[in-house]
Amino acid sequence: MKFFIDTANLNDIKEAYDLGVLDGVTTNPSLMAKEGITGEANILKHYKDICDIVDDNVSAEVISTTYDEMVEEGRKLAKIDDKIVVKVPMIKDGVKAIKQFTAEGIRTNCTLIFNAGQAILAAKAGASYVSPFIGRLDDICQDGLDLIAQIVQIYSNFGIETEVLAASVRHNMHLIKCAEIGADVVTCPLNVITGLLKHPLTDSGLEKFLADYAKGNK
Ligand code: E4P
Repeated sequence: MKFFIDTANLNDIKEAYDLGVLDGVTTNPSLMAKEGITGEANILKHYKDICDIVDDNVSAEVISTTYDEMVEEGRKLAKIDDKIVVKVPMIKDGVKAIKQFTAEGIRTNCTLIFNAGQAILAAKAGASYVSPFIGRLDDICQDGLDLIAQIVQIYSNFGIETEVLAASVRHNMHLIKCAEIGADVVTCPLNVITGLLKHPLTDSGLEKFLADYAKGNK
């Protein structure tokens, strides 16, 4: 399973990359705004800065909503770096744009997926990734993990190559359950990745090992 970090914060991206476990980055317009990145030139530069940190897979989201504009914007994003994956919303023109990007060899991440039908459509258009949002479904009392399992099953039925990128991952159990289900990728904030390190028995065990070593090596 690949680990992507879901942020536009360069320090968090560096920290996750330095841990040696990071396979990519997802951003969205809200995450860019949170970092104060505004204006086209700054936005394009910020994506380049992210690409310079990681090895591959930097999702950069279009803000256009019509086919022609999405294609133009996506091409511009793809030109920033070979690591860019153009993130496109699950709307009618988005599906058409994904089909066009696929024909041009531009990788895509179809975002805002909330049911299996949308995931089927995105895959038919040739999306490289689909992003079902677990946490936002949980927020409205629908089980986001059930959707991940359903899409993984459907893609497996037909040998579909589109990768299931579990998004809106809010905590460690989301991530672990996604691994059990067989999601290809999870994207989550830094604290969820570093949260995987933690267990109180690890801490107390290490403390005891070091104390015992110190006693015998005075
Ligand atoms: C997906 O790529 C989105 O950026 C993200 O996972 C949304 O997460 P949120 O629901 O916590 O905002």
